[in-house]
Amino acid sequence: MSVHNIPFIEMPKEQLRQLDAKNFYFGKSFTNYMLEADYINGEWTNAVIKKFEPLQLDPSSAVLHYGQSIFEGIKAYKSATDQVVIFRPQENYKRFNISADRMQMPAVPEWLFMDGMKQLIKIEQDWIPKEADHSLYIRPFMIATDPFIGVRPSALYKFMIILGPAGPYNVEAMKILIEKNYTRATPGGVGFAKNGGNYGASLYPVVLAQKKGYDQVLWTDALEHKYVEEVGMMNVMFVIDGKVITPSLERGTVLKGVTRDSAITLLREMGYTVEERNLSIDEIVAAHKSGKLEEVFGVGTAAVVSFISTLADGDYVMDFDLTKSEVAPKLKKKLNDIRTGVEVDDHGWLVKI
Ligand code: COI
Repeated sequence: MSVHNIPFIEMPKEQLRQLDAKNFYFGKSFTNYMLEADYINGEWTNAVIKKFEPLQLDPSSAVLHYGQSIFEGIKAYKSATDQVVIFRPQENYKRFNISADRMQMPAVPEWLFMDGMKQLIKIEQDWIPKEADHSLYIRPFMIATDPFIGVRPSALYKFMIILGPAGPYNVEAMKILIEKNYTRATPGGVGFAKNGGNYGASLYPVVLAQKKGYDQVLWTDALEHKYVEEVGMMNVMFVIDGKVITPSLERGTVLKGVTRDSAITLLREMGYTVEERNLSIDEIVAAHKSGKLEEVFGVGTAAVVSFISTLADGDYVMDFDLTKSEVAPKLKKKLNDIRTGVEVDDHGWLVKI
């Protein structure tokens, strides 16, 4: 298959921002260039790689009013031998178009998403940090740009990819509160899609939890607030009596995480039993009371493998001695070793640039 070449408008050298490796924080620093394309009259056009700069949007643009907006998160790494790789971008590409379908947005073709991403990363490869736990975070997104405030699917869209060198999202181990009043996703809703509104809706309960000293909430099912689902920017895994248990995807209320899937595969290969099933708060608390709740951790593109030091069900606080954790650190090392080329990529997860 031929690779699509997207026009590249190069910036004058003196305008290029320089690398400042000491100040790479997740989500704050962006590279010099971005990819942009428009959906007009039923087709993707105007694809270009150009200077990273503010957008001009009509104030009546549909996205600003009704939230037709979706995104992905992907990471690129540089190995010790300077080989540039992207981790499982095809999975994000598939999920992006599943989100698009649910939000009544057009599918993005592979030449634009995949070839465009590779071309942009090739141009910006000097921005890929080589420090441990660092990577180049790739943020593809699509917004509805129709200048029309009637409620209907927009006729116009913009697809973009921006890049940012990033350190770890969660530097410290996290304290998590189990959320039983507010809801992230309902069966039949949009919980499985990566649309911006899911994240906007999560902010209020998370801020309430932060006021109580927690970092994030662990969402529970909307109907009974009985079963755990995800942490919002990461999927969650529990180690109970040596087995790894993670909420299943079948209700459509948990995001189908690419890191979640990779973790399940690797953990099984490492000899662990992994169960994808409903997991109730009662079961978690009972396991804690009997000393069988060994570890709780999050997995996600931004989060990688994030350690959880405290999990609270109201006043019942479960603290974990992270020096005794075994599964999460082993998984984190395995994932990092594959991504950075220290271990052989047996699964064909790395796309080389
Ligand atoms: C990611 O892990 O890439 C995500 O999309 C989470 C993000 C909202 C920080």
